[in-house]
Amino acid sequence: MLGAQAAAETPFSSAPISHADIAAFADDCVNLKREDAEDYREQVRRLRDKLDKYAADHPEYGLIKTMLSGSLAKGTALKTLNDIDVAFYVKAEKTPSAEPDLLNWLAARLREAYPQMKADQIKVNKHSVCITYAVSGLSVDVVPVQYKDDPDGRGYLFAFDGGKPVLTSIPLHLAFIRKRKARQKDHFAQMVRLVKWWIRIQKLNDDGFKFKSFMAEMIVSHLADDGVDMSDYTVALEKVLAYIVKSRLKTRVYFTDYYPASKLAKSTGKPIEVFDPVNENNNVAAIYNESQRQKIVNAAQNALEAISEARFATTRGRAIECWQDVLGPSFRG
Ligand SMILES: Nc1ncnc2c1ncn2[C@@H]1O[C@H](COP(=O)(O)OP(=O)(O)OP(=O)(O)O)[C@@H](O)[C@H]1O
Ligand SMILES: [Mg+2]
Repeated sequence: MLGAQAAAETPFSSAPISHADIAAFADDCVNLKREDAEDYREQVRRLRDKLDKYAADHPEYGLIKTMLSGSLAKGTALKTLNDIDVAFYVKAEKTPSAEPDLLNWLAARLREAYPQMKADQIKVNKHSVCITYAVSGLSVDVVPVQYKDDPDGRGYLFAFDGGKPVLTSIPLHLAFIRKRKARQKDHFAQMVRLVKWWIRIQKLNDDGFKFKSFMAEMIVSHLADDGVDMSDYTVALEKVLAYIVKSRLKTRVYFTDYYPASKLAKSTGKPIEVFDPVNENNNVAAIYNESQRQKIVNAAQNALEAISEARFATTRGRAIECWQDVLGPSFRG
């Protein structure tokens, strides 16, 4: 019989960190728990009911309705979720058109709908109005969408750092993700979460590391559409990282769900091109420069090396250390 110490040092021949290890880690540390998600959804449902009623009671304001967007709506939220995204559709012709005016106007409407809230509970942020609940500490980012009667819910959103409003559709984004989730039940959403977790660890190590969740989701979607089976998380994660390294993120990513490829511009001149599946003119990666692209590629290269070293590690302890480079110190194997 081997002692515990000796067992930990025992060489193994098969892959030391398995799909089951990653799945268990995801369950314990990465994923927003189902009960917590339900809880958040319930709280945000109450908020939305209230705002939808307020909109209906004040038709003169041009508020239309709210919609849950972002990772809580898509089922791709991490445990570390710190804000909930709600879109507020407003009539473009009745509301201020410049972003700061629109946000201030929206904040005034929200304060009117919630007179009992303190001034600092409803704050104008860069691209949204943030409502913070005093008791739970939960915060909801309300983003205005300027709507012009499009049946697919297309409207203009400011929220994305490019400066200009972007024509897009939150309901079509939700449908896009739902379609991929249905094709690879549980596994697609889990891969999105694991990639987002890896990104989170990179950001903790480097303030300058940028890789927005929506872009990660599009890259995972691209691989899923390309036939990558996501049911083994070690293999699938390796494939995502290998894709980043091999393409150096210089291959454009696009989808033909809502427009033909022929509609895409020949080149946008940007280092990374990941197109919004709903709007062929919206490169969701337009904000990234060459050095940010390089950082992502380097990080993926390092992660890939760590995973392959883990495969050949002679002790489980060493394999765990390698995977910690990818998934952070909370990964214990
Ligand atoms: N550049 C963009 N162009 C168009 N729509 C975008 C863009 N960025 C985000 N969105 C929309 O906003 C939603 C939320 O995007 P975000 O990147 O905040 O991801 P998230 O899924 O909420 O992730 P997180 O868990 O990190 O908050 C997306 O699902 C998409 O509908
Ligand atoms: Mg979000």
